[in-house]
Amino acid sequence: MCGIVGYIGKRDTAPLLLEGLQRLEYRGYDSAGIAIQTGGAAGKPGALKTAKTKGRVRDLEERVPKRFSGTAGIAHTRWATHGAPNDVNAHPHLDPAEKVAVVHNGIIDNAAELRAKLSADGVAFVSETDTEVLVHLIAAAQAESLEGRVQEALRHIEGTYGIAVLHADFPERIVVARNGSPVVLGIGENEMFVASDVAALVSHTRQVVTLDDGEMATIKAGDYRTYTTEGSRTSSSPETVEYAAESYDLGGHETYMHKEIAEQADAVDRVLAGRIDDRFATVHLGGLNLDPREARAVRRVKILGCGTSYHAGLIGAQMIEELARIPADAEPASEFRYRNAVVDPDTLYIAVSQSGETYDALAAVQELKRKGARVLGVINVVGSAIAREADGGVYVHAGPEVCVVSTKCFTNTVVAFGLLALHLGRTRDLSVKDGKRIIEGLRRLPAQIAEILKQEPEIEKLAKKYADARSMLFIGRVRGYPVALEASLKLKEVSYIHAEAYPASELKHGPLALIEPAMPTVAIVPEDDLLEKNRAALEEIKARSGRILAVAHQEQEKADHTIVVPKNEDELDPILMGIPLQLLAYHTALALGRDIDKPRNLAKSVTVE
Ligand code: F6R
Repeated sequence: MCGIVGYIGKRDTAPLLLEGLQRLEYRGYDSAGIAIQTGGAAGKPGALKTAKTKGRVRDLEERVPKRFSGTAGIAHTRWATHGAPNDVNAHPHLDPAEKVAVVHNGIIDNAAELRAKLSADGVAFVSETDTEVLVHLIAAAQAESLEGRVQEALRHIEGTYGIAVLHADFPERIVVARNGSPVVLGIGENEMFVASDVAALVSHTRQVVTLDDGEMATIKAGDYRTYTTEGSRTSSSPETVEYAAESYDLGGHETYMHKEIAEQADAVDRVLAGRIDDRFATVHLGGLNLDPREARAVRRVKILGCGTSYHAGLIGAQMIEELARIPADAEPASEFRYRNAVVDPDTLYIAVSQSGETYDALAAVQELKRKGARVLGVINVVGSAIAREADGGVYVHAGPEVCVVSTKCFTNTVVAFGLLALHLGRTRDLSVKDGKRIIEGLRRLPAQIAEILKQEPEIEKLAKKYADARSMLFIGRVRGYPVALEASLKLKEVSYIHAEAYPASELKHGPLALIEPAMPTVAIVPEDDLLEKNRAALEEIKARSGRILAVAHQEQEKADHTIVVPKNEDELDPILMGIPLQLLAYHTALALGRDIDKPRNLAKSVTVE
């Protein structure tokens, strides 16, 4: 969703900011804008120049005048919340005197109330955005310093924000603040950057400081300082970003989705690296903050996430029940947070998120913490909001995921759940023999993933065969059902073909009515104790002239086509069975000419309700 970039230093600012915005495009947006500080030096006011437009960053580039130079600036990609996506509502927003420019991520909950008050005082609003109230509040603030004015304004604000503020009278600084929406400072040589996502910074610096909620910072070309919204100094030491700029590039692939699918064997290597303990047939998960006594005291596990992360949680819950014999289930975080759930002290809550920023998941975690629950995170983005809020957790180390639809992070999250389930199992009754069996299975995964990916040319041909379907049914039983759910989500997100997932066991209870030649079924058929039951479901579909594409461990006689995947341990099979279906979704979308990396109406990080 919305993205922020800022720069202050000796270099020409506009090109740097536009490049930063391009790196944030993957998050999804509908308009973009930039404000540059021109002229002025310490003590002498400058002037602000802006350009903004509905559309893409390349449209903004065309609007930026040739003479748009300056050495400080802020820029934004906007995902409309308050007000339509148009030039006027695009950020930055300026006060009428054009002294203050603000870019803002998040939502100001009391914007309507503040707007009414300011309007009654004679303030004329030009946009429909919530952000504009902040601009007028800063412009009206009485404090001497820019920091003081921003603090004064923020005292009126209820809601979430990540903001960057430029002021013509304070040309040597940018002031930023965070509450619920990420703000990261990038430290360069006599230059400083700010962004809402490290992706915008890493081509310039890997030294970053991540602000906490309630924290602000002043950045100048040569230094920065951090403090609270109340003005007390805070100490934030820089950290080094794990991934280099190249990890955010296409690396020779046509799309990020393709690149990220192809990276999965290496990504799984990373989530396993350094964690396996052969001696005790278990794993070490350093960040869990759960000693063996506490792990044994867990009576239930509840996993919360949204979309693909929720599906990974469903597989994780099954693994935990199977390997640790702890009752476990998963629920969409977006539902959980609204239903005043009973929070049980003996339940271990686990929040799952690629971005670590998803608002619904974050809100669920905050509600749980408020009620005294212990919450772990299974998260990809290190230092993200949910990772910080959780009591401990497991990083999934999938690396940067740029495509809006999640692929490699799903796989790594499920592997991370395999590790967690093994760890919990080995603190309980899982035998050394079974622990070793699972470890061997985990170790086989990268090579097996590579083997599946080699089948891409055949899967591409299958995708072309099925791309004419208007709707597709995905079925799986027990371990296969979450795989079906995730595969159907992938197909609908990138190809816009309607897809529905059902437990194979429920076929007779309704969905069988849909079966006819024009409604293909994708069936997940693992070779486990339910194989015969799954085969019976294929028979039922075939008897009604349904077309079947099976994902199985051997050719399925009743299926029109089978994608054969390598067999692993029964508990780990779901990790592999979804991978060919990522490729199926990808090639279907390609055949239909879809915008694969940025499917319509979707954003990478859903940071609003
Ligand atoms: C699907 C997809 C979304 C996300 C969901 C949660 O491909 O990417 O369904 O999984 O928005 O996002 P995170 O995992 O960042 O919390």
